[in-house]
Amino acid sequence: MAISAAIEAVDLYRFFHAGESETLALRGVCLRVAPGEMVALLGKSGSGKSTLLNCLAGLDEPDGGHVDLLGERLSRQPETYRARRRAVCIGMLMQANNLLPTLGLADNLTLAMQLTGKSDQMHLTHMLQQLGLSAHASARPAQLSGGEVARAGLAVALASKPAVLLADEPTAEVDAATEALVFKVFDVQRSEGTAILIATHSEVLARQADRVIRMRDGRIVHE
Ligand SMILES: Nc1ncnc2c1ncn2[C@@H]1O[C@H](COP(=O)(O)OP(=O)(O)OP(=O)(O)O)[C@@H](O)[C@H]1O
Ligand SMILES: [Mg+2]
Repeated sequence: MAISAAIEAVDLYRFFHAGESETLALRGVCLRVAPGEMVALLGKSGSGKSTLLNCLAGLDEPDGGHVDLLGERLSRQPETYRARRRAVCIGMLMQANNLLPTLGLADNLTLAMQLTGKSDQMHLTHMLQQLGLSAHASARPAQLSGGEVARAGLAVALASKPAVLLADEPTAEVDAATEALVFKVFDVQRSEGTAILIATHSEVLARQADRVIRMRDGRIVHE
């Protein structure tokens, strides 16, 4: 059977409780991203974008609904199973902390590859070069600028050649030139068949997407 969606969320709910207060972070979100499709996820701060990406990546478990990754159930599976499938199939670029601080940049990429059982020195060199980071291969994250850290996080997310790329505000703190470079890398990935979902406040990135989805108060309001 052909897989029409690389990743799919079906009626996702996620609630957070703190004391007596309850946050309804996701309220019935349905979403599909096809191979080779780039979707921009827009919405105000607090609308649920990161919560959705975390559930899609299997980093967090939804309270209702489910996530399918490449046609197989990802949610409500043991943590070790989710972690393995995430390592092999998903590149996740979070809002922060994408790099291990004690490792140099090239070693961060190597580790991400090793988690999938792959080791591809040519791909590593190519990623660093594509993202303008070749001169910083041995630098630790603390020795990089903010824009370099952002690009390095993307390099790590793509190290394992994932089928799905989930990026949470990849260009939040970078200049226009870096944003253009990051977009170029997304575009190459899209043309190679990667399914890409980007949570962003950037209209520039949103304009380049195949589809724009907007969230408000935990719901998708407009496609
Ligand atoms: N671990 C948590 N515990 C309690 N509440 C949480 C938790 N994570 C998120 N929330 C709440 O869920 C709602 C959605 O948060 P989320 O981080 O998904 O928003 P966002 O759209 O990514 O915002 P931003 O654009 O600022 O990154 C917010 O009200 C937030 O305070
Ligand atoms: Mg967020």
